[in-house]
Amino acid sequence: MSTITLYGATGTIGSRVLDEALRRGHTVTAVVRDPAKLTRTHPALTVAVGDVLDPASVAEHAKGADVVVSAVGGGDGPGHQALIAPSFESLVAGLRTLGADAPRLLTVGGAGSLRTPDGKQVWDTPGLPEFLLQIMHAHGDALDFLRTVTDLRWTNLSPAGTIAPGERTGAYRTGLEDLLIGADGESRISTEDYAVALLDEVEEPKHLGERFTVAY
Ligand SMILES: NC(=O)c1ccc[n+]([C@@H]2O[C@H](COP(=O)([O-])OP(=O)(O)OC[C@H]3O[C@@H](n4cnc5c(N)ncnc54)[C@H](OP(=O)(O)O)[C@@H]3O)[C@@H](O)[C@H]2O)c1
Repeated sequence: MSTITLYGATGTIGSRVLDEALRRGHTVTAVVRDPAKLTRTHPALTVAVGDVLDPASVAEHAKGADVVVSAVGGGDGPGHQALIAPSFESLVAGLRTLGADAPRLLTVGGAGSLRTPDGKQVWDTPGLPEFLLQIMHAHGDALDFLRTVTDLRWTNLSPAGTIAPGERTGAYRTGLEDLLIGADGESRISTEDYAVALLDEVEEPKHLGERFTVAY
């Protein structure tokens, strides 16, 4: 069993990651800004107060954990894209202060930078709304930053083109740089199965120092 420090436990993806981690018997510290927002209770869950943008707070809550998972985001507004790269930088800065004892870092990424069958990238798709483009590029910048990090064990997991709450089937495919498209022509994953893939990576790391993606 692993000890996991989780950021974003009140969010759409983070709450499924929390459920999946607890379901598998892991011990979780959910680091939140406002504990009143996290209504989930479980004997293996501790709620701590902290801000992902504060490296000292990251170090404090990550100390002793096996893995830090970040599923932070911020809705459809400008706060979202402004949070992504700084949060990755803060997580890395905080974990670096723990030296050789630093836990692994597993971040929820974006699909925008994945390659499409025409050799372009998802963010080149015509007609995408401006707010979404900005979030996609923020995730691209954050991934570029992670790729410069050679002194920590990190993994970035890009969702499929579409991720939404749904069924937990336990079945999924993984890839690296290419957008995964199913037989129905769609690139999608339920939030629940995304969490299954993320916890599988927590338990058996196969993607250290790289981005991978998950879809049906
Ligand atoms: N297809 C795709 O590529 C795709 C699709 C969806 C999502 N994503 C990415 O997945 C991530 C999570 O998305 P989501 O929809 O699950 O987000 P969400 O529902 O908006 O939840 C965001 C979470 O981040 C937390 N948070 C925000 N700022 C924080 C801070 N400074 N310190 C600590 N926690 C903070 C929020 O906590 P509070 O409760 O305190 O606000 C909340 O728990 C985002 O990075 C998003 O861009 C990618």
